[in-house]
Amino acid sequence: MLRQFHAPPFQAATKALRHPERALLRLILLARIARRKEVRERNRVIRFLTEESSRTDPHTLYREYKKSEFAESFRARRRRLDRGERPHRLGTTPAFGCEALHLAVRVMKPRVVVETGVLYGASSAHILDALDRNGEGTLYSIDLECDPYEPPHDFFVPSRLQERWRLILGDSRRRLPVLLRQLGTIDHFHHDSLHTAEHMHWEFETAFAHLPIGGVLTSDDVLVSHSLREIGRPNAFAEFCRSKPVRWATFGNVGIAVKLDL
Ligand SMILES: C[S@@+](CC[C@H](N)C(=O)[O-])C[C@H]1O[C@@H](n2cnc3c(N)ncnc32)[C@H](O)[C@@H]1O
Repeated sequence: MLRQFHAPPFQAATKALRHPERALLRLILLARIARRKEVRERNRVIRFLTEESSRTDPHTLYREYKKSEFAESFRARRRRLDRGERPHRLGTTPAFGCEALHLAVRVMKPRVVVETGVLYGASSAHILDALDRNGEGTLYSIDLECDPYEPPHDFFVPSRLQERWRLILGDSRRRLPVLLRQLGTIDHFHHDSLHTAEHMHWEFETAFAHLPIGGVLTSDDVLVSHSLREIGRPNAFAEFCRSKPVRWATFGNVGIAVKLDL
């Protein structure tokens, strides 16, 4: 078993200066541990989705995504954002969450996807690229307006993918029920807006009523504790899934649920 050692920052820094090689090796080890966890979680996503589809092999789809021009250009954009060329908010979905979402859309082949929480478009771009590869589908995204000083909502979304995209500006509390009434049935709902327990429950409940059997609910931030008072309480995604007829699991910070027949 690997042990985690903690040292006060000053002590750690002086030690690193005395033994730079050892410090570097330790950094590499930590990166490997983090990566191993990610590999394990990715394999779990692939196994989960394999049970949902006999027609498509998620392994092949994942490899195809990794080698794609889309993934390459997304990583380049991400580096630009991280360099801080423009002031921006934190909260862009990390690579693992984007990949998991891409794979879920590739395997489940939804025709109508609704998401809340766009920020600079990382999740939106991944859903759109997956729909494009599937050859069908529309994404409806809801978010509040960006400030003029920051990157726009479509920062990560290549223009060739925007044809399938309907971006709705406003509070999901008002916009989501109206949109869902207009659409009737949707195939996939992705939550990534406000992560309070109350808001997550409300969005899940509101969208779930519009999902058919086999419909998909995904959520980011399923490891988040909603407040210090609620530190021991399960995340709203787990609470919601335990109360509904769904096959579900969490993978890192991402949750996937598939609606079952009662
Ligand atoms: C974590 S970020 C979304 C990250 C994004 N999905 C991505 O892949 O990078 C959360 C977003 O939710 C939006 N948001 C927060 N409360 C909202 C609400 N009530 N209605 C709509 N959007 C909201 C914020 O403006 C912010 O852009």
